[in-house]
Amino acid sequence: ILNLKFPDGRYGWLITRYDEAVAALKEGRFIKDITKAYGAEHTSVFSTNMLFADPPDHKRLRGLVQKGFTPQRIADMRSHIQDIADTLLHEASAKDTINLIDEYAFKLPIIVISEILGVPTEDQDKFRVWSNSIIGASNRETSEEVAQHMHEFIAYLKDWFAKVRENPGDDMISQLVMAEDQGDRLSEQELYGVVTLMIIAGHETTVNLIGNGVLALLEYPEQRKLLQEQPELIHGAIEEMLRYNGPVEFSTSRWAAEDMEFHGVQMKKGDLVVVSLNSANRDAGPFEHPDLFDITREKSQHLAFGRGIHLCLGAPLARLEGEIAINTLLRRYPHFELQAGVDELRWRPGMIVRGVEEIP
Ligand code: HEM
Repeated sequence: ILNLKFPDGRYGWLITRYDEAVAALKEGRFIKDITKAYGAEHTSVFSTNMLFADPPDHKRLRGLVQKGFTPQRIADMRSHIQDIADTLLHEASAKDTINLIDEYAFKLPIIVISEILGVPTEDQDKFRVWSNSIIGASNRETSEEVAQHMHEFIAYLKDWFAKVRENPGDDMISQLVMAEDQGDRLSEQELYGVVTLMIIAGHETTVNLIGNGVLALLEYPEQRKLLQEQPELIHGAIEEMLRYNGPVEFSTSRWAAEDMEFHGVQMKKGDLVVVSLNSANRDAGPFEHPDLFDITREKSQHLAFGRGIHLCLGAPLARLEGEIAINTLLRRYPHFELQAGVDELRWRPGMIVRGVEEIP
């Protein structure tokens, strides 16, 4: 548990070992709502959502979208997701080289989440730009451009919600807008927050499961060969990709709700607590030879999707997308390689997600 001291004199704690990480993610005295932790204001309209809420609000906000993500609902999407993967790789077949991130790993989850939410096809590219801006994961943007994108995003949502109110469909946004109309279930601010969370979660995570997974297979040719010969090992392979180079680097922030002791450390009310998920996933305690990528590892209890009440709601969807994306790539392009001459890949900036900008 590493101590962090901020310029304003307050303290924070970075948790890097597995056991402490699990305990921290399940600790009821670490809360997510910054306004309750020490009376600070919410920093943006987007932070009023389940990921930054505590019980009982958390349950209500999660319950509103949970129905759309049950394992059965997700399993029913298998053949459709398979069609999307086949179409994207078919389109790529006309070229000798593609950027696997832009043309496959990004596109597949964006198409799927856009369909779930009800984003019009012609607007999907805009959502990718906005989503990148919100989490600060673009190397190419100035702060003016980020502000401009936020402005456009909010204007788009406002307009979109108004249209949906007039003419609701059976997509998730329509359900959420109706829930807002029923007053006590969702406030306007919560509607913006929940929709933004779903957009970001759907755009910024699975892309890196696919991208980092492909990189691990390139790094370990014998593991790739094994998976090519036995595609049924894909479930274990995806879990190992999530453990070995997880798409989400750190948990979101938690705050000590009171003065307390946690695993031998004295914490004060309002202290920040962050878990390094990827560090915990390389802890030699639970994971033998943690720095090796091994798709036959005994079922690993990695923390890539977090733990406790905030456990990733989209995990069944992300796993299914990852399985289909990787196995389809291996089947259709058994000999794919990194473009000759490319020896360094650029990681995207920002603290939250871990993934490369391009895989040529
Ligand atoms: C929460 C990881 C994909 C929706 C989380 C958390 C992690 C995570 C670590 C918990 C953060 C914390 O406790 O501080 C991932 C990874 C993904 C992925 C690694 C892909 C491989 C998705 C997708 C969706 C999604 C595709 C939905 C479309 C959510 C939601 C929460 C969440 C709504 C908040 C749950 C709550 O607070 O109760 N995710 N995620 N995630 N994720 Fe994911």
